[in-house]
Amino acid sequence: MSSTLLFYCRPGFENDVRQEWSGRYSEDGRWESGDGYALLHLQQTPPPEALDAANWIFARQVLSVLGQVKLGERDRLSPILALLDTLPAGQRGPWSAAWLEHPDSDAGKPLSGFCRRFTPILEKALGERGLLLDNAKAPRLHLFFTALDQAWIATTDPRHASPWPLGVPRVRMPSEAPSRSTLKLAEAFMTLVPDADDRLKPGMVGVDLGAAPGGWTYQLVARGLKVFAIDNGPMKGNMAIHPHVKHLREDGFRFRPQHPVDWLVCDMVEQPVRIAKLIADWFVQGQTRHAVFNLKLPMKKRWLEIERCFGLIEGALDEAGLRYTLCAKQLYHDREEITCYLALTRSEQARRRRR
Ligand SMILES: C[S@@+](CC[C@H](N)C(=O)[O-])C[C@H]1O[C@@H](n2cnc3c(N)ncnc32)[C@H](O)[C@@H]1O
Repeated sequence: MSSTLLFYCRPGFENDVRQEWSGRYSEDGRWESGDGYALLHLQQTPPPEALDAANWIFARQVLSVLGQVKLGERDRLSPILALLDTLPAGQRGPWSAAWLEHPDSDAGKPLSGFCRRFTPILEKALGERGLLLDNAKAPRLHLFFTALDQAWIATTDPRHASPWPLGVPRVRMPSEAPSRSTLKLAEAFMTLVPDADDRLKPGMVGVDLGAAPGGWTYQLVARGLKVFAIDNGPMKGNMAIHPHVKHLREDGFRFRPQHPVDWLVCDMVEQPVRIAKLIADWFVQGQTRHAVFNLKLPMKKRWLEIERCFGLIEGALDEAGLRYTLCAKQLYHDREEITCYLALTRSEQARRRRR
């Protein structure tokens, strides 16, 4: 059965979503895109895992399209309700929620005020028809406005979708953090690290490679970790004097801890392949259990570079017989880069403790 998928992404990375699809799946279809989104029209039903936003690097959200509506200037509600009425049973709701969204682009952002104002009107109409359920597992309805008079109507399964409107988590900028980069690591902990509160505990030890001025170090210290901050540049603010921070002016490619640590984070601006080899080596040498690191991508052939880096990491860890999880995302706070999370599985960590 034919189907259409709608991907939200950072503006300018629509072609990277397409490359990522081609790298993962042999089926292809007709693509169309606008700033901050891409649509894929397929002849068949997509593989179920393709609809899970967590599996995607360049897509912030993945939705199944139900239809497209043209909206009148005075009455926007009727065409939407009319389209919902034409859907086959099973696709017609009820819904756990209705989200009104727009592309995260210069052209899309002015639509946010309209989306906010129109949401209660749509919710009321859906509620009166018994189409809104108090059940978080029920599918979610999305209206994706590309203009005031045009919207794609789509759905997600909230259990496999990004839990944030537009696929963008809200992260508060802490006033004490010395750089805005801190938001990247905060977002990575929210987005990529399952049970982050359990895996980042007071008393643990972390290493921050390329730490200055200290935005990432701040995130670790805020969670109670003791941190070796490695950088030739200066740490700033509280991170320069904090008792839990040991700043070492060393080369991040040479530094190794005397004892294994719980966390390695790395934000050095370097060739992605060099970073990938370095991170893999820390795991193979048994020097960390978790890592969050950035890969600064080239302007072109970004997907190929990611495949190359992941191949290096997976090859090294497989050869060492380690069991691990590796995932990545182009975070909202990332620009020409992606953020990766690599961790030994819990059973591998237990095996290591028994040795
Ligand atoms: C993007 S900044 C890091 C920002 C930091 N994560 C923060 O949140 O404040 C990159 C840092 O990597 C450092 N760096 C680059 N190459 C390095 C190396 N070989 N060894 C140590 N630090 C390095 C630079 O001095 C710079 O401070």
